[in-house]
This record gives sequence, structure tokens and C-alpha cells, in this order.
Amino acid sequence: MPEHPSGPFDAVVAGGGLIGLATAWRAARRGLRTAVVAPSAEPAAASGVAAGMLTPATEAVFGEEGLMRLGAASRDRYPSFVAEVEADAGAPAGYRARGTLQIAFDTDDLARLADLGELQSRLGLKAERITSRECRRLEPMLAPHVRGGVHAPDDHSVDPRRLAAALRRAATARGTVFVADRAAEVLCAGGAVRGLRTASGAELAADRVVLAAGAWTADIGGLPEGVLPPLRPVKGQLLRLRTPAGEEPVVTRTVRGLVKGAPVYLVPRDDGEIVLGATQEERGRDTRLTAGGVYELLRDAHELVPGVSELEIAEACVGLRPGSPDNGPLLGPLGPPAPAGLHLAAGHHRHGVLLTPATADAMAAALLGEALPEEALPFAAARFAPGARADGPGRGAGAPGGHDGRDREES
Ligand code: GLY
Repeated sequence: MPEHPSGPFDAVVAGGGLIGLATAWRAARRGLRTAVVAPSAEPAAASGVAAGMLTPATEAVFGEEGLMRLGAASRDRYPSFVAEVEADAGAPAGYRARGTLQIAFDTDDLARLADLGELQSRLGLKAERITSRECRRLEPMLAPHVRGGVHAPDDHSVDPRRLAAALRRAATARGTVFVADRAAEVLCAGGAVRGLRTASGAELAADRVVLAAGAWTADIGGLPEGVLPPLRPVKGQLLRLRTPAGEEPVVTRTVRGLVKGAPVYLVPRDDGEIVLGATQEERGRDTRLTAGGVYELLRDAHELVPGVSELEIAEACVGLRPGSPDNGPLLGPLGPPAPAGLHLAAGHHRHGVLLTPATADAMAAALLGEALPEEALPFAAARFAPGARADGPGRGAGAPGGHDGRDREES
């Protein structure tokens, strides 16, 4: 482990969310000396807010098949990933293998779930259609009028805050150095990366730099104009609800619902917390918690699980998901004209938690000069290098606009 935080390091990672932490940890496990530059020990932006659904089957969307394949591969990596993190950290990572129930509020919602069945089976994702009665057998506190649903036994969840804390400990145990500062500027010379300068002026030497700062990634300076693909913030508002002591939780597994076309989800934790999310709003860097956003979440959740109204509100959160031009992640080296050694691990949009293990594997491979794993290839960051961008975004990766909604303009 280097004695001085200025390095030199093999790789410096800008960003201390799940993606940055997992990248630094995995690369350290593979023998690289890594540093993470992040202003706070608490994951901010998206990782500290996310609900932690690992649900490629129940989040499958037409037009995002490549993304769902990567998501399924990452979901299937979770048990071994968590075991390795926990072994290094000596602390639990908050993984919960209880499956997911997707339910429909009305017949249109049910028809929409049925349409997705074809896609789920084409992608080989386990998702069994079940009746309203069977839904209530799995989750007795569902409203009696729900129309039916889909049971995805392999779609699980993780607590992103616990996972981030465990990853930080695991990375520290593997020699990763943490620098509590904001990444300000990539240092370059002779067409190659030489390190990273922080906001307070510290310089960390490295010939590989990974930009993993979520929706703020493209703010990091020092690079020629236009080299970084644009990342747009996608606001999400959500609530953390507390089950009163001695009472049964209103749901025991992740419940994703469609209520008149609008998605809502409830993700339970072992300690009785229920995360209720989330809005999806394209409003720049607005992080205001709004009455309208919270009202719609509670209204729709109450339609599906009336007992939600009895829970205590423990916390209301707003996060910014980092959306790439085609909604797929940007992984690995950018390639010319970007300086050699510049890597991205960004743009994970709605799927940062799900894609954490696959991203860590892909980034460690890229940092060691290996090819990306096959399922990650469509998400090579180089697809948005200025030369490759001429024919427009979305080539074969996530495909733009493919998400399940709750978009709205607030007045
Ligand atoms: N993956 C859930 C969300 O972004 O709201």
C-alpha cells in the first residue's frame, strides 16, 4: 500500500458511489494499486438514495435487450460478488434473496405485464404469470382488487448503503487509498493520462484514470472539449418508511406495481424499512423534494398495499441518476481522441446497483488491458468517442427512451 496519497497509483477512480468503489476494489483484488477520490465517505448522488432492486426480469423493457442481458449476468454474479465483498470487509453487504412480485392494478396494466412475458422468456428470465389470488397468497397485504401479476423468483435486492459501506471496507482491506476531496481535473501530457488533480490542488499520479462520478462525471475538467459523452441527470424522489415495532412488514419481498401505467415499487429490508420509489423526472439538477412527487408515490403505493398509509416516514430522498445518450452504461477506455488511459464507468441510469458486479469485472479487465467481457461489449465507452458518434447514439446498446415511465412534467 502506498505510504503517501499522491501515489503513484496504477489507477485513480474519481467517484465514491457503488460503481467507483466496486471498480477500485475489484481492480485492487486483481493486483492494481488504486485510489478513490470522493468528497464524502457517504455515497451521494444515486448510490446513497437507490432502493437496490436487482430485477432485470421485472424491469425488462422492449428495445433494451442488450442492457437486460448485462443486467441478468450482473444479477447472477451477485451471490459470489457479495460473498467476496463480505469476506474482505468482514461486514454484511445487505443482500436479500427473496424474489420479486410484479402486480397490475387494472386490466390495462395486466395487459402490459402480459406483453412483457414474451420478452422475458426470449431473454431467458424467469417470470411466471400468476393470478390475483396467487399474488395475495405470496403477499397477503396486497389490495384485494389487484388484477394479477408476475412472480420473478430470481430478482432480488440489496441495501445500497450497506453495500457501499462494505465495499469501502473491502477496498481499504485490499490497499485502496481514499482521498476525501472532489475530483477536479484529469492531468494529461503527451496524449496520455498522468493522474488526477483534486479541488484542493492535490495531484495523484496514475497512468489510468476512471471517471465514475455519476451525473457529475462530465464536469471533471482537463480534457479536450467534446471528448466526454453528455450525461443527463434523471431525478428520482423516494421515501423510506418504517414498520412500527412489533408489526409485520406490509410486504416481505420486492413488490413492483403498475398503477394506470405508472410504475411504483416497494423494497423491504430485513430491519423493517420499506423503500418506496421512485419518480423519474428530467429536470436538470433540480433536487427539490416536491409535494406532487411524494403524493403520487404514496397514492399509487396505497392503491396496491393500503397498509402503507400506516407506516412512519423515516426519510425522504432525492437522487440524480446518470443517464447516457442511449441509457446504457459507458464502460472502459474512451479511445482516441481522448487521452490514452482515460476510462469511464458511468451512465448507469436506473441500473447502477444491479450493474455493479458486472461493471467492476469489466472495469478491472479494461484497466488490465484485457477485452471487456462479452455481455459488456455493447456498452464500451468508445461507442461515444467523437469519431464513433457520427451516426447517432444508441447503436445496439440500451436504445434510447426505453424505460417504464413515471415521467412527468411538474408545474
Ligand atoms: N432502478 C430503479 C430506479 O431507478 O428507480
